[in-house]
Amino acid sequence: MTKTLLCIAAIGAFTVAAVGAQRGGGDAPPAAAPSGPNYPAWAYAITPPPPPGAPRPAAPAEDTSAVHHVPGTTRAFTIAQIADLRGPADWFPEDHPAMPAIVAYGRQPAVRSCSYCHYPNGKGRPSNGGVAGLPVSYFIQTLNDFKNGLRKPGDPRKVNVNQMIAFAKNMTPEEMHAAAEYFASVQWTQWVRVVEAKTVPKTDAEGSIFFKAHEGGMEPIGMRVIETPEDDEQTEPLRNPRSGFVAYVPPGAIKKGEALVTTGGNGKTIACTSCHGADLRGSGPVPGIAGRSPSYLARQMYDIQVGARHGEWAELMKPVVAKLTNEDYVNIVAYVSSRPMPPAPGGKTPQQTASNR
Ligand code: HEC
Ligand code: HEC
Repeated sequence: MTKTLLCIAAIGAFTVAAVGAQRGGGDAPPAAAPSGPNYPAWAYAITPPPPPGAPRPAAPAEDTSAVHHVPGTTRAFTIAQIADLRGPADWFPEDHPAMPAIVAYGRQPAVRSCSYCHYPNGKGRPSNGGVAGLPVSYFIQTLNDFKNGLRKPGDPRKVNVNQMIAFAKNMTPEEMHAAAEYFASVQWTQWVRVVEAKTVPKTDAEGSIFFKAHEGGMEPIGMRVIETPEDDEQTEPLRNPRSGFVAYVPPGAIKKGEALVTTGGNGKTIACTSCHGADLRGSGPVPGIAGRSPSYLARQMYDIQVGARHGEWAELMKPVVAKLTNEDYVNIVAYVSSRPMPPAPGGKTPQQTASNR
């Protein structure tokens, strides 16, 4: 049900944006999708607007006092605790060091707890992104890029990036530093399982995440990556930070991506390994990309291609993405996200599987 709430929040934000644009109000984002030929719509997972005049769905009555459990811990929380923006439930404190206050609680009212969206272990959801294991200097640099207007979404309808921008604007340098040191100290481990598949479960985008459609069923994958929770309920409403994602990619995508990533594909791009490290897990101040959310990675490449993300260091990425098409994004992230990572705490051995080819 909280999925419905997410959905309503997204529709609400959309309506506000659309109304703002009609009124010519301030910086209200336009309501239209980017029209460029390379736009990877699947990476943004924007909920389509309701048909004109459609009634807004009523929020279902919810018992927020019921206690919930997830596998692997005896801890138990109510939905109100799990979704507490000022200090959400920490299901597995043993999986990470002690969180600094800004990460655990945020600073009210302007900065929400980082652990709400990025999870206490920094794994995050495809809608926001993984922040564990990022280099400290990169982390601070990119927060300042958000703050200084140098990092915006390539699709202006991606409203939660605007929330992130607002948090960065309100953080002190000390808070940025504390958060950067904390997340850098948490290792990036297995989180997404990449599966080549001709057909995928039907999904609905809710809160910029593809959840399995209520009516069920399968559909052709097309030239997309469909990243969806391993278990919808563990992700929403339970926000289980050990329950990862599966990313369906078209058959053959991993192999095609490997060629682009390791050789640059005869001048189409530049070998990623030269800057992101031989194993793509980062090198010095350059962030790791291996084993991270494919939707997140593709969004960043498109954001840089269209110039919405244009900080000083993003310049190095411009020639990398200049000629890439939607199909290239699909292939590149299929390979990058499928790189085996160390097993997560409480997790299974990393694996990459191929099914229903
Ligand atoms: C409301 C959800 C939300 C909260 C709370 C939140 N973030 Fe974010 N964060 C995002 C989104 C959305 C993005 C950008 C995703 C994109 O660019 O597509 C992001 C991106 C980031 C990035 C960039 C990651 C990268 O690989 O470049 C950093 C760093 C970051 N957040 C740090 C923080 C910190 C520190 C806090 C706590 C003060 C925080 N975030 C709280 C939603 C959130
Ligand atoms: C010349 C060096 C260089 C090469 C080659 C390069 N990158 Fe990057 N990449 C960077 C730097 C530097 C950043 C950080 C940009 C910033 O701070 O905004 C980055 C950032 C990124 C990001 C965003 C990471 C995040 O956490 O938000 C992605 C995704 C990415 N690169 C993918 C790739 C892929 C895929 C390739 C190969 C096809 C590649 N890069 C090749 C230097 C490079």
